[in-house]
Formats: sequence, structure tokens, C-alpha cells
Amino acid sequence: MTAPDEAISGLAPASDTVTVLGLGPMGRALSAAFLAAGHPVTVWNRTPGKAGELAARGAVVAGSVEEAVRDGQVIVACLIDYEAVRATLERPLDWAGRRLVNLTSGEPAQARAMAAWASARGIGYLDGAILTPTPAIGTAAATVLYSGAGEVHEAVRGVMAALGGDGVYLGDEPGRASAYDVALLDVFATSVNGIVHGFALAAAGGIEPGRFAAFATGIGGLLPELIARFGQQIQAGEYPGDRSTIGSAAAGIRHVINAARAHGIDTSALAASKGVIDRAVEAGYAEEGLARLATTLLPVDRGGAPARRG
Ligand SMILES: NC(=O)c1ccc[n+]([C@@H]2O[C@H](COP(=O)([O-])OP(=O)(O)OC[C@H]3O[C@@H](n4cnc5c(N)ncnc54)[C@H](OP(=O)(O)O)[C@@H]3O)[C@@H](O)[C@H]2O)c1
Repeated sequence: MTAPDEAISGLAPASDTVTVLGLGPMGRALSAAFLAAGHPVTVWNRTPGKAGELAARGAVVAGSVEEAVRDGQVIVACLIDYEAVRATLERPLDWAGRRLVNLTSGEPAQARAMAAWASARGIGYLDGAILTPTPAIGTAAATVLYSGAGEVHEAVRGVMAALGGDGVYLGDEPGRASAYDVALLDVFATSVNGIVHGFALAAAGGIEPGRFAAFATGIGGLLPELIARFGQQIQAGEYPGDRSTIGSAAAGIRHVINAARAHGIDTSALAASKGVIDRAVEAGYAEEGLARLATTLLPVDRGGAPARRG
């Protein structure tokens, strides 16, 4: 086994030892990718018996956190939340020559608090956020964001390359990866809500899910261009209403709400969306494009400060 300090070598050799804390679906996928890249891997999970085929593929299954951390040069935590990471690591552990990469999803403030916790204990800490599902890990399709101490990123990036795809370093502010993560999860969560609501409304209208899906995927196909265009407009602070307007969206969402209510379908999420649109209309944005709604959500705009018009 290599001495821990030899890991500080930029693109590290596959002999660098990796410990994965957490064997949920993502922890197992990470462990499999490190094994596939040739790293000696030790795994640990709070509840025993979750290592599955990892042991047969060569992973050491540690019986304790102490043993797991002792085995690794790069300690990768992938647990349900930051509280679980703290609960797991809040004990005397030998961190000499080791680095902690926390790929647990959370909030920016939690990432900053975790970095401070690690700093107070002299632990080299890198925060991270995984943007792709488990099957993508270890393939070119994987995207993992990192933020935190630059020297820790340099030391572990060779090992983390085993996860495949893009490893994007966002700088030394530890909450940065998480800030991207929560905003992207926002897009995903609200999109899923819209999709399932559409299926419910279609079903109530007697439309087969398969038939509906064929048309709904057409809407999905519009989104990449729309997201890129909104990005440009929000960056420029200009919201042309040449393609469609907030005033038109206000009429459209009324139809959806009325139709859903007629079937007794929950309209709470739609009502919240309508509330945002109505506020934008009241603020004088009816003739502007939908990207303007991003500013209507901001407290500064709602309070009538600089961004507000009319
Ligand atoms: N799965 C995905 O597709 C995906 C994609 C992107 C990001 N992520 C992120 O990756 C992280 C792990 O996700 P996951 O899908 O593997 O499963 P998960 O259900 O989010 O987390 C399960 C893991 O957390 C452990 N755990 C829960 N509470 C704990 C505690 N108090 N102390 C110690 N360990 C605790 C579980 O151990 P036990 O078995 O003992 O309960 C298990 O190892 C999450 O932050 C998730 O958001 C997942």
C-alpha cells in the first residue's frame, strides 16, 4: 500500500487507495468506478450487508469507520445528507495524509460549515456535487462539480477521474458546487412536478399515458433552446416578448387550472405558478418574455427595488 503522502501527486496512480463511506445506490456506483480504475477500495456503510458484489470485485468491507478511514488516502463520503456525514466522522480518526471529498448532496451553507469543521481539524476538504444518475458514473456521461481548497482538488483529481466524464472545479468557495446543485435540483424537481401533473390531467381527460408521452416529449425537446435563451436574456437583463409574453402565460395557466379543477385534480403547484405570473403582470411586465419571471421571484423585485419596472 502506498504511503498516504504519496497521493499528493496531481494525476495520481491507480494504486492510490480510496475509501467510500456510504453504500446507497450512489456510493456503490462510486465504489465500482474506483475499482474499475484499478484503485484499492475500502467501503463502509452504517448498516452492514450493503456491499453487494463490491467485495467479490475486490473491495475491502470495513467493519468500522475507523478502519475504513485508516485504509484510504482519499476518503469519499456519499451519504444521505450532511448530518449523516457529521454523525459518521465526528469521532477521533487519523486524518494524517488523508483527504476528505464529500459528494453528499446538501445546501451551500452546509458545505461551508462542513469545510470549516474539516479545517478546524486540519483535514484537507473538498466539497462536491454529483449531477448525474448512477448508471453514468464511470462513463463519459458523468458530471461531478467540486469546490473547496485548490490544493486538495489538485491532490485528488487523478483519483476522482475514475468517476468519468467532466470533473468541474468551481474554485475555492466550498459552497459553490452545492449552489449549482440546489439550483439544478430546483429545475429537476419543478419539471417533474409539471410532468406528473400533465399526466394526471391527461388521464382525467381520457388520454392514454403512452399517447400523451409522445406529445409531451415534444415539449421536452423545446427546453434546451429555451434554457439557453433564458440564460442569455437574464444575463443581459433584457426580456423581449417577441415569441410569447407573460400576459399570454397568465391566460394560459388559467385554462390549465380551470380544467384541472373540473376534474378535482390538485392545483396547488399551478396556483403558486399563477401567483408569480400575476405578480409580474401587476409589476408591469405583461408584455415581456417569460424569462422576466426569474426576477419577479427575487425579494428585491417583489419589494419594489431596482429591478421593478412601471
Ligand atoms: N442516487 C442518485 O442517482 C444520485 C444522484 C446524484 C446525487 N446523489 C446524492 O448522493 C448521495 C447518496 O445517495 P444514494 O442514492 O446513494 O442514497 P441515499 O438514500 O441518499 O443515502 C443512503 C446512504 O446514506 C446512509 N445514511 C443515512 N443516514 C445515515 C446516518 N445517520 N449515518 C450514517 N449513514 C447514513 C445510508 O446508510 P444505511 O444503509 O445504514 O441507511 C446509505 O449509505 C445523496 O446525497 C444523493 O443526493 C445521488
